[in-house]
Amino acid sequence: MKIESKEYRTIWFENNNVKIIDQTKLPHRFEIKDLKTVKDAINAIKIMEVRGAPLIGATAAYGMVLSIIENNDQSYLKKSAIDLINSRPTAINLKWAVDRMLDKLSGVNSENIFDIALNEANKICEEDEKFCESIGINGLKIIEEIYNKKKDTVNILTHCNAGWLATINWGTATSPIYHAHKKGIPIHIWVDETRPRNQGANLTSFELNEENVPNTIIADNTGGILMQRGKIDMCIVGTDRTLANGDVCNKIGTYLKALAANDNNVPFYVALPSPTIDWETKSYKDIPIEERNSDELSYIDGLDENHNIKKILIYPQKSKAMNLAFDITPAKYITALITERGICEASEKGIKKLFK
Ligand code: MRU
Repeated sequence: MKIESKEYRTIWFENNNVKIIDQTKLPHRFEIKDLKTVKDAINAIKIMEVRGAPLIGATAAYGMVLSIIENNDQSYLKKSAIDLINSRPTAINLKWAVDRMLDKLSGVNSENIFDIALNEANKICEEDEKFCESIGINGLKIIEEIYNKKKDTVNILTHCNAGWLATINWGTATSPIYHAHKKGIPIHIWVDETRPRNQGANLTSFELNEENVPNTIIADNTGGILMQRGKIDMCIVGTDRTLANGDVCNKIGTYLKALAANDNNVPFYVALPSPTIDWETKSYKDIPIEERNSDELSYIDGLDENHNIKKILIYPQKSKAMNLAFDITPAKYITALITERGICEASEKGIKKLFK
C-alpha cells in the first residue's frame, strides 16, 4: 500500500534491525523505527507501536531473529519466545508465529540458525501478504454482487483497523475494499472511530485516504442509526482470534455492531487469514481478553497549535475507568467468514469445509 505515493510494507528486516512504522505516531507523523533487540520487539507489541493480529505475529517472528543475534543460545531463545507470547494475550497469531519459529529453531545449534530464522520470519510475512491478497479477491465478489444489484455506491462499515497497517500488506477487512476500489466499483467506507485508541480514525481513515478510498469517520455509536436509515450495505471487520465454531473475538465494540447489523438485516462479514483460527479453545469464555491501562481512555493524543503531539486528560481526575480491549461476536450474528481459501459459514462445518 502507498504512503505519499510510495509503496511500503509495514515491517521489514534490514542491516540486522527490524524496521516498523511507529503506529503510535499516526496519523500525525509517519516515522520508521528500528527494533534492535528482542526487548524492543516485546515493547513495540505491548505499547502498540505495531498492532493488529497478523502484524504482531510477524513482529514476534522477527523478535525471535533478534533474540538469536543478541545471544545464540537455546535457553535464551525459549525465554524470548515466552516473553513474546505474553506481550499481548488475545491475538492468537502471536503464539502461532512464535510456535512456528520455535518448531524450526529448537535444537538447531548450527551456525546457520540465523539464516533459518530470518528465512522463516520472512516466509511468515510473505504468506500473510498472499493470504490477505486472496481474502481481497474472495471478498471482492461480495462487494461486486451488492453493486450489481444496487447500481450505486456500496457503503461499507468497518471497525478498528483490520487494514494494511494491521498486516504486512492489503489488510484483511480492507483487502476486499482495496480490490473493489482498484476495480473501479464505487465504494464509500464508514469508519468507526474505535475508542479508546481510535484505530479507526487514526489508522483506517489514514490509510484509506492515502489510497484515495472515500471514507467518513463516525463515532462508535453512530452505526446503528445509519443501518436503520439504509446507509450501510454491509459490514466487514477483522478478528484477533476466531474459534473453530465460528465465534469471533475482535476489537471492543464489534459485538454491538453485529447486533445492530442483525436487527437491520445488514450482512456482517469477518475477514481473516487462517493463522487467526484458534483450533484448540473450545469456548469463547476461555479466550483471554486483554485489559489495558485505563489511561488509554482518560487521556487522548492530538496535535497542539504548534503541531506538536500532545497528551491531554479528558476525564475527571478522580473517575475510575475500565479498558477491555476485545469482545466476542457469537457465530450466529456473522453472515460469513472471508478467508484466503474462500468464503464460508461461521460454523465448525463451514470452517472445516475450507480447512480440512
Ligand atoms: O488492539 P489492536 O489495534 O491490535 O486490535 C486490532 C483489531 O482488533 C483488528 O481488528 C484485528 O487484529 C484484525 S487485524 C487484521
